[in-house]
Amino acid sequence: MSLVVQVDHPLIQSHLTTLRNERTLPAEFRASLRRVSTLLAFEATRHLAVRDTAVQTPLTRITGKELGSSVALVPILRAGLGMVDPMLDLIPTAEVWHLGVYRDEATAEPVEYYNKIPDSHPAETAFVLDPMLATGGSAIVALSVLEAWKVRSIYLISIIAAQPGIDMVRSRFPDVRIIVGAIDPELNSRKFIVPGLGDAGDRTFGTLRHADV
Ligand code: PRP
Repeated sequence: MSLVVQVDHPLIQSHLTTLRNERTLPAEFRASLRRVSTLLAFEATRHLAVRDTAVQTPLTRITGKELGSSVALVPILRAGLGMVDPMLDLIPTAEVWHLGVYRDEATAEPVEYYNKIPDSHPAETAFVLDPMLATGGSAIVALSVLEAWKVRSIYLISIIAAQPGIDMVRSRFPDVRIIVGAIDPELNSRKFIVPGLGDAGDRTFGTLRHADV
């Protein structure tokens, strides 16, 4: 698997258009976010370890497969919350460790405000969930926490990433695998992704004020 994967799929492209549309209301935004998250998860989980397990079908006994490593989901609050349920649907046994990070509006620097990730017994694989990768600052906070937790295999799943953010994360965490639905070319003067979709947290939770965008 390449270290940066833009998942090219017609369903992702079409649901992304709904997410980008400024007229999409929060209920439809959340639904589209879930759908794209599921499609990205399919790719992001492709190389999870499996082990043999015996199962009795109604007809015979066979050797099936089950996930062979522990998985942690790490949503970055708030917007990452919208990606948790679709991931849990696919990996019901995953642990969920919330991480609160917001961008200071004046400086666009990340501020960590909630973190109960333990300092021992790391999950073997972790998926950082955040719809937006803009400057990369918030992701780097999250990845630093997982590095300190000593997680061996780390993935970052974002719906839309800006190329400068990808470059920033790659320079600091060259081994982290990044799975995205779209790579947008640039950031504006306020560090919003262009063309992007605006503020994913506000659009997910219906807290958008027009002056915010
Ligand atoms: C947004 C987004 C990411 C971050 C991306 O969160 O959901 O977490 O900004 O920007 P970065 O790559 O430059 O750090 P925001 O700070 O708006 O918080 P919210 O999810 O609570 O709305």
